[in-house]
Amino acid sequence: MNQRTIKRIGITTGGGDCPGLNAVIRAVVLRAAAAEIEVIGIEDGFGGLLAGTEAGTRVLTLREVAPILDRGGTILGTTNRGNPFAFPGPDGAPVDRSAEVVARAHELGIDAVITVGGDGTQRIAHGLDQLGLPVIGVPKTIDNDLAATLETFGFGTAVQVVVDALDRLRTTAESHDRIMLLEVMGRDAGWIALHSGIAGGADVILLPELPYEPAKVAAALTERIAGGHHFALIVVAEGATIRGEGVTTKAVAGATGGRHAPILGGAAHHAAERIAELLPALEYRVTVLGHIQRGGTPTAYDRLLASRLGVEAVEAALRGEHDVLVASFPPAIRTVPLASAVEQVRKVDPAGQLVAHARGLGIAFGD
Ligand code: F6P
Repeated sequence: MNQRTIKRIGITTGGGDCPGLNAVIRAVVLRAAAAEIEVIGIEDGFGGLLAGTEAGTRVLTLREVAPILDRGGTILGTTNRGNPFAFPGPDGAPVDRSAEVVARAHELGIDAVITVGGDGTQRIAHGLDQLGLPVIGVPKTIDNDLAATLETFGFGTAVQVVVDALDRLRTTAESHDRIMLLEVMGRDAGWIALHSGIAGGADVILLPELPYEPAKVAAALTERIAGGHHFALIVVAEGATIRGEGVTTKAVAGATGGRHAPILGGAAHHAAERIAELLPALEYRVTVLGHIQRGGTPTAYDRLLASRLGVEAVEAALRGEHDVLVASFPPAIRTVPLASAVEQVRKVDPAGQLVAHARGLGIAFGD
């Protein structure tokens, strides 16, 4: 595959949405147009290639993408349930429809597909590339935990949302002398909790990577109160656990989406209950930010990163690369094997500098 043979590129967004997806789509269309390549938008993950001939895909025009740089979500739609290797059949049982996806892409004259997604989406993309559909991955997750790239767009926006929430919670915490717990996203990795906790002035941060002991959190609060403070802010990653216990899950009506089953939730309430058993005289309140972290306008930096990744994905296609991921290693964006994007998640290093700096600020981890 080289520049002369590429006439059409497909683009799809998979997995959870994330601020910056539309900025990638826009960048791909802009760069492709300059190379006289048509871009086909594939809707709802790879599901758009299984929707028959009249639906599921559309040509993305410069006009359509012009106003979407700052728009959250994805104009193509997305799903956690669109895995063509295990597509839900009429009775709900998984059916392998991957060959149909590849055949439909070929039928549409698509020379390569840009797949914007996290580890689950890139695993599927790698599988489709093996079946003969050239694929270029663009990493996406607000959790910032993909091993193959040093940063992902959407993360910075999520951190800003959490910091804004902490700024607001502080005023109530101060006014009422309360312990305010804020639950944030981060199933396996605590990057959002750690970055926002530092930037938002948290007193305690509870991470999946550092199982905590309620007694140690209580001791940190007692010390803070003895130092003359009458309130505290605690950031709790949804995947944080008490040492020796499992994650906290919540039952939600409807499908879980498969990839994220079980749905996490309740970590901050659980922490509040267990700390309150030890310090019952204090007053506790819990806020769960949930999907507010994934919505809305991407920050300037996330728009920049997403735009650069989109352009570089087209450049990679023009170079004839496939089965690769465009990854950010500041200041460079370069390609790495797609298979590396599906390896284990990049976690916070409990012995690393970031955690050490947080401790240097007096932040407790309850470990
Ligand atoms: O992976 C991104 C993420 O936002 C996680 O932090 C969170 O646990 C999960 O997705 C939520 O997924 P869903 O939107 O399917 O509930």
